[in-house]
Amino acid sequence: MRVVNRKENYIIDDILKGELVETSIKYYAEAKEFYMNEDKSLKDDTKMYDVYQYTLEDGSEVGHLCWGLTVMYPVLINGECNMTRGHFHLNETCGEFYYGAQGNGLLMLMDAHGKTWAEEVFPGSVHYIKGALAHRLINTGDKIFKVVACWPIAAGHDYERVEKQPFGYRVFKYNNKLEHKEIRR
Ligand SMILES: [Fe+2]
Repeated sequence: MRVVNRKENYIIDDILKGELVETSIKYYAEAKEFYMNEDKSLKDDTKMYDVYQYTLEDGSEVGHLCWGLTVMYPVLINGECNMTRGHFHLNETCGEFYYGAQGNGLLMLMDAHGKTWAEEVFPGSVHYIKGALAHRLINTGDKIFKVVACWPIAAGHDYERVEKQPFGYRVFKYNNKLEHKEIRR
């Protein structure tokens, strides 16, 4: 048997690395509208989160998978915990796995009717996200929060739908205590 030693190395103890890894960085300037109130004390170039993605496929088939890592920084925005934009999948038959790699946070989930709940994410936790549920990550800890994900590329990202129907809660941290605030729609 021939054993192939691939040029790329994809590791999770630090970040995903390799020639085929795509990286995107979300700065506060592009994330302001995610949070309830703008925080003038945060600089526009404050790093909120990084997303690393890796695949060998082009997404033309539903079976084509992507592997990713989200790295979220412990930033509070007027007391609100740092979170990702969140999305529904355009193709609701496509589920997704999340895996807690480092730090602590929440996976917020929302169904088509706006019902919202969350799962605790911690090192070693595994989360199956059904294809019809919107999902968002929230760093509730004081350290970097890293979550690994695997999803079909064909799932796509529907951001507009969560703008029209926002998640039902926002998570704040005051004096080191978390508060879940229900949002009136
Ligand atoms: Fe997703």
